[in-house]
Amino acid sequence: MNSFSRVAGLWCLMTAVGCGQTVHPVGNIFIPQATPAESVYHLSVLVMTVCAAIFVVMAGLLTFTIMRFRRKADDGNEPAQVYGSNRIEVAWTVVPILIVLVLTMATARVVIAVQNKPAPKDALQVTVIGHQWWWEFRYPDLGIVTANELHVPVSTAVRPALTFLKLESVDVAHSFWVPQLSGKTDLIPNKTNSMWIDPRQEGSFLGNCAEYCGTQHANMLLRVIVQSPSDFEKWAADQKVNAAYYSRLEGARATFLSLSCVNCHTVSGTSASGTFGPDLSHLMSRATLGSGVIPNTQGNLRAWLIDPQAIKPGNLMPNMQLNARELDDVVAYLASLK
Ligand code: CUA
Repeated sequence: MNSFSRVAGLWCLMTAVGCGQTVHPVGNIFIPQATPAESVYHLSVLVMTVCAAIFVVMAGLLTFTIMRFRRKADDGNEPAQVYGSNRIEVAWTVVPILIVLVLTMATARVVIAVQNKPAPKDALQVTVIGHQWWWEFRYPDLGIVTANELHVPVSTAVRPALTFLKLESVDVAHSFWVPQLSGKTDLIPNKTNSMWIDPRQEGSFLGNCAEYCGTQHANMLLRVIVQSPSDFEKWAADQKVNAAYYSRLEGARATFLSLSCVNCHTVSGTSASGTFGPDLSHLMSRATLGSGVIPNTQGNLRAWLIDPQAIKPGNLMPNMQLNARELDDVVAYLASLK
């Protein structure tokens, strides 16, 4: 599958299906939907206004000077040479210093306000772990582990719901960025960063890794799925239970558990307990595969298992060289993990 059809497929999925929810397709920083993003937006408007005013004044003066004092046809003499003007020199030193000072103070105020926000007792706590090239989301208080799709409750004036994120990395530096919800925050190995969001609108907000982290950096996509409190509780309850078990799939399940898939992936309630790759306990509850590169359909799941490298070159899942029976079994079993 070429990258165009992948993108087209993903686009269709995002606009048409998207878990039956609105998907806000472009992460537009000028349409903030959470307090941190809104603070950044207001600051950026101030900075851009000041810069635009400087541009207009400077370009205006320059244009005026070029037009008014350009060399005339009958003008053979060098213009008068003028040196030193304390008044002008003080002006062009002090004014820029004042402008920089104002912008610095405005920026510091936003940074401090966003960074020092205390977490309310009822805030949802999520640990975000960056991997090459996918996102792990752990909800320690809820006992949930999932990947690439962060579910959070919507925050309203009546019922504010803040989500605090602890950001960590198992390998290299990544950066968590969902433009409509917050600014970027890096995920650094051996260091814990934090950020928070309070999304005001339900739907899926798209984001991506914003720090170059290797071959598939650009395909380290994520989505924040903002739900009504009741939908969020239902999602959390579904995620908490062990992976689905169907006796009719006993053979397929046995095949999966006999393969080395289990060394990297966890399926709750089974012997599969690897943590190197994404948790698969509720794989089919997610909209995409490979951290957002293809829609999560049974056909794409099969294609991914046949050759993950063809779909996301460089990703750390090897081609498992499954034979036809193993492939059928693993697809059937994984597709049952709702
Ligand atoms: Cu992770 Cu770029």
